[in-house]
Amino acid sequence: MSKKLPGTGKPTLASVAQYLKSGDVRNVVVMVGAGISTSAGIPDFRSPNTGLYHNLSRLKLPYAEAVFDIAYFRKRPEAFYTLAHELYPGKFRPTLFHSFLKVLDDQGVLRRVYTQNIDTLERIAGVPSEKIVEAHGSFAENHCIDCGKAMSTEDLEKFMAKDKIPHCKKCGGLVKPDIVFFGENLPARFFKLMTGDLASADLVIVAGTSLQVHPFASLPSQTSCPRVLFNLESVGDIGRRKSDVVCLGPCDDGVRDLAFECGWLPDLEALWAKTTKDGVTPEKEDVLHAIDKAAAEEVAKEEAEGANSATEIAPEISRKDVEDVVAAIEELEISKSESMSSKGEKDTMTVQDEKAKV
Ligand code: OAD
Ligand code: ZN
Repeated sequence: MSKKLPGTGKPTLASVAQYLKSGDVRNVVVMVGAGISTSAGIPDFRSPNTGLYHNLSRLKLPYAEAVFDIAYFRKRPEAFYTLAHELYPGKFRPTLFHSFLKVLDDQGVLRRVYTQNIDTLERIAGVPSEKIVEAHGSFAENHCIDCGKAMSTEDLEKFMAKDKIPHCKKCGGLVKPDIVFFGENLPARFFKLMTGDLASADLVIVAGTSLQVHPFASLPSQTSCPRVLFNLESVGDIGRRKSDVVCLGPCDDGVRDLAFECGWLPDLEALWAKTTKDGVTPEKEDVLHAIDKAAAEEVAKEEAEGANSATEIAPEISRKDVEDVVAAIEELEISKSESMSSKGEKDTMTVQDEKAKV
């Protein structure tokens, strides 16, 4: 198929909607940052006055980004841990934008969401974990920065609850969540999926990011398909190509308009109304649904065969057992996908304006 928006004039959200509804679009790749979570109550980093970096003066940092700098963390881990209390996941409800990602998936057009966010709201909104690349890591796992020994989230939370800095039980080194710091590699999953996703993308949606942090910032320019930006300000090179659609304003409003154009607004609003800070992942729902369906089929089969001919007794598996197994599988998937890359310098996270080393 030709990866082109319909129409000859300047493309609009209506053309994007027509393209999405054409039946040819299967691979929407979404690239997001902190701006998609500000309406949930989580500040972004770089917005003047409201951004986290503006409000870090109490931490007395040599420069704002030092709070996520691995060299600085070695010297003064308290700065990161002070901020970690505020950012720790589990307190926030997904935004309308997050639910829009789930609608894209429900419509069968979502290929991947690349997120720089560590708030896990994409998962909480129900986007399946295999569709998400947490490019800057997450709080899901924690490791010693010296010997690599893992520390359970439970243990880390105990340290944090007492305002103590977690240290490794094996070597005494500092422990930190697997959030990617400046100077660290991005997760292997990012590099594994990136090339294929960018080559296959039919549509790229960029939202809520200043595109200041590399290598993430270069993703939108590596695609040749139509791109849509939902952001408060213009970023990167989006808007320079004729096929780009730029929607400046709150991204929740932007996707509400797009959903309306697609005829998906009732689905979007109904879905968002159901989200909570503890939203259930659809994989679990899907598995439970499949189990219920299989059980119903089994009963129907037994009934058809006649109750007397049933010689085998089906093992008693409760929904609770199934839920436990699903939870264990999900944990495993998280730990697989979060393992850090051991590649070279080019994979490390850097910010656009080089800061003086601490
Ligand atoms: P930034 O704070 O740099 O950029 C947020 C962008 O979202 C800005 O362009 C805002 O104008 C825009 N924005 C804010 N609220 C919005 C809204 N409601 N609707 C639309 N746009 C909105 O955040 P990121 O680009 O995500 O690293 O920052 C990238 C990385 O820098 C982060 O992942 C973080 C940080 O250092 C780590 O956490 C490791
Ligand atoms: Zn250690």
